[in-house]
Amino acid sequence: MTEPVNVTVTGAAGQIGYALLFRIAAGEMLGPDVPVRLRLLEIPAAVKAAEGTAMELDDCAFGTLAGVDIFDDPVKAFEGTNVALLVGARPRGPGMERADLLEANGGIFGPQGRAINDGAASDVRVLVVGNPANTNALIASAHAPDVPPERFTAMMRLDHNRALAQVSARTGTPVSRISGLTIWGNHSSTQYPDLFHATVGDVPGAEVAADTEWLTGTFIPTVAKRGAAIIEARGASSAASAANAAIEHVRDWALGTREGDWTSAGVVSRGEYGVPEGLVSSFPVTSAGGDWQIVEGLEIDEFSRERIDASVAELASEREAVQGLGLV
Ligand code: NAD
Ligand code: LMR
Repeated sequence: MTEPVNVTVTGAAGQIGYALLFRIAAGEMLGPDVPVRLRLLEIPAAVKAAEGTAMELDDCAFGTLAGVDIFDDPVKAFEGTNVALLVGARPRGPGMERADLLEANGGIFGPQGRAINDGAASDVRVLVVGNPANTNALIASAHAPDVPPERFTAMMRLDHNRALAQVSARTGTPVSRISGLTIWGNHSSTQYPDLFHATVGDVPGAEVAADTEWLTGTFIPTVAKRGAAIIEARGASSAASAANAAIEHVRDWALGTREGDWTSAGVVSRGEYGVPEGLVSSFPVTSAGGDWQIVEGLEIDEFSRERIDASVAELASEREAVQGLGLV
């Protein structure tokens, strides 16, 4: 039997954690033949709740679950970890903007980055879900000088899936027949869902995007503000859809993206598309052999350029803010 993959999940007793752990344990993230050992990190006050979740995981008798350990110390939780899902953070409440969360959450991701640096397996791959995800990934990476920055990613897959669902609903095209969508920039209301390089069934995305009233009045704001709309409706931030997106991000990273398509992920910029180096920004990406590659050479018109620049400017200002707080 294959050696189990160590998967650390922070915020394991939270609502995303509850929607995520059972699917990871069932083999939906790394494949049905890959055993996983879960390492759950929580704050001391939530360890008991995590223990309850671990009891339920036991009770599922998953063939792919090799064990569950619970920690309240990041140093121990990241020992030997191959895949780290950094979910634990303070979620945004009604009326709060992500900038309000920078300071509250920045302090969590520095120590976790250091613990990953010092204790994780040499092939560690990190997905940051906790908001503000892009800048939290930047902070964690800054504290892990021995881990290549490419291994720290931020979750944009939920935004990508939201965009797919909106285009599908608008055009009546099954999501499986929509390709080439991109989310650019930050996981925030400034993000830019780009339809111009997509193919929707047999139709170029640019043709769907030609209805500018729908594009600018419905599509872009619906996708970009979906997180807030869900908070408003549920009284809590998205959980099952976020967990699903985390599974898909890691699955594609480990096993590769669909032939002929790309997805969106927050990855470190090396200056692609004019995004300042070092920012963790969303790009069109493919994955093969366990590495993300930014899809290069897409033509960006003025309409898209303006929107990408605005979201990237927000990322740059978040970086300045955390630099000012001494977090990077
Ligand atoms: P939640 O409040 O239900 O759970 C968060 C959990 O994290 C809690 O159990 C808490 O005890 C734990 N936690 C807090 N600090 C911790 C630390 N230092 N170490 C370990 N655990 C810690 O929140 P949730 O709904 O599960 O959301 C988690 C995060 O994910 C939030 O920041 C939310 O905004 C974010 N989110 C991101 C996306 C995305 O697309 N990137 C989507 C949805 C939610
Ligand atoms: C989401 O996109 O659903 C989450 O990031 C929650 C939020 O704060 O928007």
